[in-house]
Amino acid sequence: MHGGEFPVKHPFIIYLLNVNVTINCMKSLPPTITLNQLSKEDSEFLYKLVEKGGPEPSEYQEFTAIVNNLEDQELEYFRDAIKDSLNENTLIGHGYVKPFGYPGDFTIIHNIYKLHVNPDVRYSNWDRFFQDQAGAHAVRNRKDYFLRRCADVEKQEGDVKRVLILGSGPATDVNEYLRKNPNSKIKFDLIDFDQHAIDFAKNQNRQFNDVIEYFKINVLRFKPYQWYDLIWSAGLFDYFKDKHFIYMISKYYKYLASGGEFIIGNFSHSNPTRRLMEVLSDWYLVHRSKYDLVRMALEAEASEEQVEVDMEELGVNLFLRIKAA
Ligand SMILES: C[S@@+](CC[C@H](N)C(=O)[O-])C[C@H]1O[C@@H](n2cnc3c(N)ncnc32)[C@H](O)[C@@H]1O
Repeated sequence: MHGGEFPVKHPFIIYLLNVNVTINCMKSLPPTITLNQLSKEDSEFLYKLVEKGGPEPSEYQEFTAIVNNLEDQELEYFRDAIKDSLNENTLIGHGYVKPFGYPGDFTIIHNIYKLHVNPDVRYSNWDRFFQDQAGAHAVRNRKDYFLRRCADVEKQEGDVKRVLILGSGPATDVNEYLRKNPNSKIKFDLIDFDQHAIDFAKNQNRQFNDVIEYFKINVLRFKPYQWYDLIWSAGLFDYFKDKHFIYMISKYYKYLASGGEFIIGNFSHSNPTRRLMEVLSDWYLVHRSKYDLVRMALEAEASEEQVEVDMEELGVNLFLRIKAA
């Protein structure tokens, strides 16, 4: 093969030819990536799903089985088969397209909380399917878990309580808490590095903005200037490598007020939606065990008595809780 030559045929053509494809990317071989086509039966099933806007509940099992058994070499064909659904009109497509440049942006999280389903029948079934996944339920459960932790803070003595949120996104969780507790004594500091997320959060919380302060900054760089009764982070540490995770505990832990707590959410290994997120939305998280979370807290020099791990009802989202010394 000549240098620069790229003998990749359109996946559909390949499918008709019923052959596997080899891409020799460079003049000097390897690397060689072998792409595997889908079976005719799976391809036809997927085309049918796209035509009717996603799977019906009776087809969830078959669709999930295809996704969970998909090899990495089959991904390109799979995504090509459902490409007309992988756009911003569906939640899976939004995840895939990443209009804000990163996975898990404020709009998708807000839409999960609000159980959003596109009313356009060309896409509704995909959204219903997505909202039915354990991962989506776990995200909603973690919001409820957050509301309970805020209620605990509310009960503590003192006229004013302070909650810091790292990677606050849409702040739909804060909105729900303040709607339910209009006389709350909690003041919220929210940090997010995405101006779009801050704007969205500010707008939906405009009636509460006297008790919310927003900081547009990377959490790795923010320097708190006060102590907090609760430091909360969900949907953020699952993207950090262990060394950043540990660094973040050490960095923020010292800003806990007496009796305060640092709570960090992280998806667990028992996330049945993992492969689905990866395949459909190219959305990769660092899944961790209870043991991983405790180990990192101890490495950040918390003591065993200060650390515990909770989980939401499904056991998909874990919560590392570190109490102030
Ligand atoms: C998945 S969302 C979670 C939002 C919210 N915590 C929730 O659970 O509803 C993660 C948010 O963290 C923000 N984020 C990611 N990395 C960040 C960083 N290094 N510094 C500040 N914000 C970050 C993103 O912009 C996004 O809004």
